Amino acid sequence: MGKWKFTAEKQGFAVLLLLQCCSPYKLVCYYTSWSQYREGDGSCFPDAIDPFLCTHIVYSFANISNNEIDTWEWNDVTLYDTLNALKNRNPNLKTLLSVGGWSFGSQRFSKIASNTQSRMTFIKSVPPFLRTHGFDGLDLAWLYPGRRDKRHFTTLIKEMKAEFAKEAKAGTKQLLLSAALSAGKVQIDRSYDIAQISQHLDFISIMAYDFHGNWHQATAHHSPLFRGQVDASPDRFSNADYAVGYMLRLGAPANKLVMGIPTFGKSFTLASSKTGVGAPVLGQGIPGQFTKEKGILAYYEICDFLHGATVHRLLGQQVPYATKGNQWVGYDDQDSVKIKVRYLRSRQLAGAMVWALDLDDFQGSFCGQNLRFPLTSAIKDALAAA
Ligand SMILES: *[C@@H]1O[C@H](CO)[C@@H](O)[C@H](O)[C@H]1NC(C)=O
Repeated sequence: MGKWKFTAEKQGFAVLLLLQCCSPYKLVCYYTSWSQYREGDGSCFPDAIDPFLCTHIVYSFANISNNEIDTWEWNDVTLYDTLNALKNRNPNLKTLLSVGGWSFGSQRFSKIASNTQSRMTFIKSVPPFLRTHGFDGLDLAWLYPGRRDKRHFTTLIKEMKAEFAKEAKAGTKQLLLSAALSAGKVQIDRSYDIAQISQHLDFISIMAYDFHGNWHQATAHHSPLFRGQVDASPDRFSNADYAVGYMLRLGAPANKLVMGIPTFGKSFTLASSKTGVGAPVLGQGIPGQFTKEKGILAYYEICDFLHGATVHRLLGQQVPYATKGNQWVGYDDQDSVKIKVRYLRSRQLAGAMVWALDLDDFQGSFCGQNLRFPLTSAIKDALAAA
């Protein structure tokens, strides 16, 4: 009896380990260092992250200084340590450092990548920096290479990968290399040699959001899964399904593609009593209480907004939007992210990416259910479902 119990417990333990360690799908989650500065309940530090939530956490962003990778925030080194300490609790967790981003700008990347000398200086600086701070890899967030940068972006990736391979010969595990790519067709055509770069990258994160924003004169959803029908934005390229299919056609292997899912919405201020898709707008929506940026709302801010709001689901595009007064927001909820996961599984992709952990309800205090990270958890559960 005692012996039997012991075996059963051991088996139970083995099953548990299997569940935790080897879900075949990646869940790549970004954390942004500037989220620490949001006030009150919006302030997010890496120790708020559940170490078992994601398979990969990507810290954004690092700078490049004198052609070498460098910190961005004054306290980055401390935050790197806090983040990487999560691996003490989950040894299977991988962490990457993302370099670049919107504020960094494309021009500086362009200058570094186009010159053999500065490109080499940058590449050589990466492994020691990642090792010193306990990261498992690098994520390139060059937003976005221009037409003339396409070749240099490929070279940068190829040479970075070669450097990682060389560095790993010393007996350490090879550093991972990923890139965050635009999901816009025009940008994809302009910026990337998909077939080439996907050979050298361990995985590619498709930023399947921001399809629609303040440069438009009318409401539309920024992260639709599919092209709409009646509720359509007229553009057949601006949806996750098109972006994924296009990348696959261009030669990206499905098992390296990770589909981005946003934990934020994009909002508009309506110009009339029309509230549907395609309604005229005055401009971006009013800033959220915590994120304080026009035109975007964190999921936890949306949960607040939903009190007294009207929610609609776009049946073709498979995502919700909500309106209240003259505000309109297109976003993702637990249902839409589950549908997106079902989709990416049907296309046999490598997994999902989340932008960003700090925009989800990381405290579990805004969206009810007493659940921390409700959207990211829904993605995790849908990836693990049989
Ligand atoms: C990033 O590096 C550049 C070049 O050295 C520097 O001018 C800039 O101030 C740095 N940015 C931050 C936020 O440290």
